[in-house]
Amino acid sequence: MTFEKILVTGAGGQIGSELVPFLSEIFGKDRVFPSDVRSNTTDPRFINLDVTDKTSVELAIDKYKIDSIFHLAAILSAKGEKNPELAYKVNVSGLYNILEASVKNKVKLVLTPSSIGIFGPDTPKENVPIETIARPVTMYGITKLMAEHLGNYYHARFGLNARGLRFPGLISYKSPPGGGTTDYSIEMIIEAVKGRNYKCFLKEDSKLPMMYMPDALDSLLKLAEAEDSRLKHRTDFNVTSFSVTPKELELELRKYYRSFEVTYQPDFRQRIADSWPGSLDASAAVQEWDFHPNYDLRSTTEDMISHLK
Ligand code: NAD
Ligand code: SER
Repeated sequence: MTFEKILVTGAGGQIGSELVPFLSEIFGKDRVFPSDVRSNTTDPRFINLDVTDKTSVELAIDKYKIDSIFHLAAILSAKGEKNPELAYKVNVSGLYNILEASVKNKVKLVLTPSSIGIFGPDTPKENVPIETIARPVTMYGITKLMAEHLGNYYHARFGLNARGLRFPGLISYKSPPGGGTTDYSIEMIIEAVKGRNYKCFLKEDSKLPMMYMPDALDSLLKLAEAEDSRLKHRTDFNVTSFSVTPKELELELRKYYRSFEVTYQPDFRQRIADSWPGSLDASAAVQEWDFHPNYDLRSTTEDMISHLK
């Protein structure tokens, strides 16, 4: 599949700020259009775009002759629990506007990341397959599950090439995380590198699946470029690299910073973490588009530290 004009929504966020240079390197700068509701860049390609504004979404896709979209604009889990109405508007209405405008303008690809947030307390905890009990208890999870279904609906009804993958917690150092439950992992690494101790908002044994940003970027590209004929799933691929508890991350960091200490004071985010699985089965992504993560806990920590230093 060739992509001529790529729109990235939510481009100023944790993923977008790395996906834009990544795609620009591969496809050429003039083919990638970063957009966001907040503008904190001097990039001349930047489009100021609120995805909840249907008319602006349609105008942008038409004006820039967009043929593929990485739709990253969203409100994450912890922020979404603080402002459920905003999470609903951005995550559901925003996606709806993107899908509608994409059908109208014959966009060739709409790729929307989903999340481990779609699972809930009734989901089995380990090696969770794609199809399982998914009764999320956060507004984030509910909206992301709906986003998966909307993508499948637009594919079945209008032939739109909607795709998506359920990211675990993403670890990265270039841009701050946007208000998720897995943000503790990034915060902990940063504090260790700064020589400070860390107060963790999750319990020490809260095991969650994680992935390092280079593997996340690679998986977005692989799914975008996957042969349609190979896909049995569309919007709900599980992907994961490793699972870790806050205590295990603390111990990994202590190999580099011997006096580093973490205290555990769970807050409202503990309930969110408790509702998510500890590990995922990513075999469908492996079979259908050759998903292959390269980083484990040790190499992620090592690489994060070397860059943060
Ligand atoms: P982020 O919070 O860092 O960035 C989201 C961006 O969306 C922000 O720059 C924000 O300004 C923008 N945005 C918010 N409202 C908007 C609106 N109305 N119009 C346009 N832009 C708007 O999020 P992220 O971590 O980059 O996540 C991107 C996607 O990946 C989301 O769909 C998220 O659910 C998914 N995801 C992320 C993670 C993770 O750990 N980062 C894990 C699983 C899934
Ligand atoms: N990292 C994300 C969050 O915690 C998972 O979707 O919200």
